[in-house]
This record gives sequence, structure tokens and C-alpha cells, in this order.
Amino acid sequence: MGSHLVDSLLQMGMDVVVLDDLSGGFEDNVPDGATFVLGSILDEALIKELFARHRFDYVYHLAAYAAEGLSHFIKGFNYRNNLLGSVNLINASVNHDIKCFVFTSSIAVYGALEPPMRESDVPVPEDPYGVAKLAVEHELRVTSHMFGLPYVVFRPHNVYGERQNLGDPYRNVVGIFMNRLMRGEELTVFGDGEQRRAFTYVGDVMPAIARSATLTAAHGQVFNVGSDDPTTVNDLASAVMTTMGRRGEIKHVEARNEVHQAWSDHSRFAEVFGDVGRTSLHDGLARMARWAETAGSRSGKPFEGIEIRRGLPPAWESIS
Ligand SMILES: NC(=O)c1ccc[n+]([C@@H]2O[C@H](COP(=O)([O-])OP(=O)(O)OC[C@H]3O[C@@H](n4cnc5c(N)ncnc54)[C@H](O)[C@@H]3O)[C@@H](O)[C@H]2O)c1
Repeated sequence: MGSHLVDSLLQMGMDVVVLDDLSGGFEDNVPDGATFVLGSILDEALIKELFARHRFDYVYHLAAYAAEGLSHFIKGFNYRNNLLGSVNLINASVNHDIKCFVFTSSIAVYGALEPPMRESDVPVPEDPYGVAKLAVEHELRVTSHMFGLPYVVFRPHNVYGERQNLGDPYRNVVGIFMNRLMRGEELTVFGDGEQRRAFTYVGDVMPAIARSATLTAAHGQVFNVGSDDPTTVNDLASAVMTTMGRRGEIKHVEARNEVHQAWSDHSRFAEVFGDVGRTSLHDGLARMARWAETAGSRSGKPFEGIEIRRGLPPAWESIS
């Protein structure tokens, strides 16, 4: 998502500095014209130095390890990286009078609430990833109240598209399916595959997220953002196979602990940002598949440092 955001920011005429530790990203994805800094949001000294050197106007904070299902088993890492790392950026943003802090939270904050989830619902996250995202949202709210830091929060869902990390075996079901098909492997589906998600093409949402920092009507608000068309994981698997012209066996494995139905209402987003792209799943998958076939498959990297092994889905036990 970050590389697509940078495309939009460069088109808007902004100077962009990208900070990424490449734990899940790739330097090749950084668009020409942006300055790349290799480093972590956990490195407070580096953050202080970057803010002092570049005198940023806006911060777009997308860095996270977003493996929602895995977050139960890597709680410490999840909170250090996704919550405390965020606090480092918020501190620096207050100290340097940032004009707007844009944060990508997640639909995960809603947990198992009845879809379509609305911003007026009281969030009840079901996993540490969602808890960390919600904590950062609250952190931004209290920081804005205390220090006047303007902010915008987005809660995207199931974003897919070109440049996605195909090699993470724990997240990005579209990327996982494409990667496995290219490697001639079966497609693993947790449970009956009737879980529904609204898969969102990355190019439809990033231009609005880019614009939000300079759009005062968006400041101080939380927005659901993404597609309005929920699809089952079974239907997604068929659609990916059709798009890629490759067949793979579908292997249903034991259901994991996950929310069964998750999609959200986007009327607040539409009020402020107007009409944005509505790329169909068919077209979005076709664009991503063209890119994936050129980029090639990646081997899945196991997550080093699982903190709790009890209840780890067997499909993940075998890679970790
Ligand atoms: N893709 C989705 O469906 C989705 C849905 C909801 C929310 N989000 C959120 O949007 C953001 C972007 O998601 P994405 O799908 O592009 O994920 P991604 O993994 O492709 O991008 C996250 C980037 O953060 C970097 N990163 C991780 N920890 C870091 C650290 N400590 N310091 C510096 N860089 C670090 C990774 O290397 C990676 O490049 C994340 O915050 C994610 O939680 C994504």
C-alpha cells in the first residue's frame, strides 16, 4: 500500500521520504523520485534525526506487521512493532508540529461485530493486531486533544494489488493463492471457505488516503475504506485460478480462530472523498496477476520468534 501511496504523493507534487525496515517490503517497490531510508520505526534516534533533518509537513504511517491471525502467537512483537513503533512516530510528530498524521488502522478493530461495520460501532477487536491498531487510534485521539496534532485514521480491509508481498505465508490471501499457483502448490483454505471479505483493489483507495492529509474536512475523523462487494474465500480461489489460467487443488484445513464475516459501510468516506475507483474483483485480480507473473513467485519465509505455540494452526506449524 505504501508504494502506491507514494505514487499518489509524487503526483501531488510532494517530496517524499520513505522509511521501511524491509521486514515485509522491498526496496524495488519504492517509486523513483522518493528518497528511501532503510530503518525501523523502533529506532527512536533515527526517527528523531529524520524529523529534524527533513522537517516533514505530513506523516503517513503505514508500517506494521499485519499478519492478523498470527498476532495471537506473537503478541510481544505485535505490540512492540505496531503500537510502540507508532508511539515513536507520534512523539516526533508532536515535537515537530506535523500538520497532519495519517494512520492506516484496520477493519480488525471491529472484531466480530455484525457487518456492515460502521464507524459509529464501538470496536471490539478479536486479536492482538486489532487491539494494537485500536490503541494507536486512541493514542492519536488523546494526542490531538492534548497537543493539537491533526490526524486522520483509515480502516482499510483486504487490500490487494501489484507489488504485494507474495512471500508471506501468514497474510494476504490473494498473494498467497497467486504465489502457490505459480509454484504448482495446492491452495490452503481455512475451514469451509465460506468466510466473506470485501477484497479491495489498492489503486482505488490510495489516492484518497494521499489526499486526506491536506483535506481539513477529513482531519480528526475515522474512515472505513474499501470495496463494497463481499466475496467468499472459495469464490476468491476460483476467481484467482480463472484469472491466472492455472488450476490448483483446494485443500480445506481446520478452521482457524478468525472473524467469519467482515465488510464495512463506506458512506462517511464517500461524503468526504466523493466517488473513488471501484475496480471489479475480476479486473483487479487481472492487473495483479499480470504483475505477479512478471515478478515471479517467492518462497515463503517462516516467522522467526513465535512466542506461543499452543493453538498455532497446523498449516502454520509446518512452515514455522
Ligand atoms: N493490506 C490490507 O489488507 C490492510 C488492511 C487493513 C490495514 N492495513 C494496514 O495498512 C498498512 C500497510 O499494509 P500493507 O498491506 O501494505 O502491508 P505491507 O507489509 O506490504 O507493508 C508494511 C510495510 O511496513 C514495513 N515495516 C514493518 N515493520 C516496520 C518497522 N518496524 N519499521 C519500518 N518499517 C516497517 C514492512 O517492511 C512493509 O514494507 C499496515 O499498517 C497494515 O496494518 C492493511
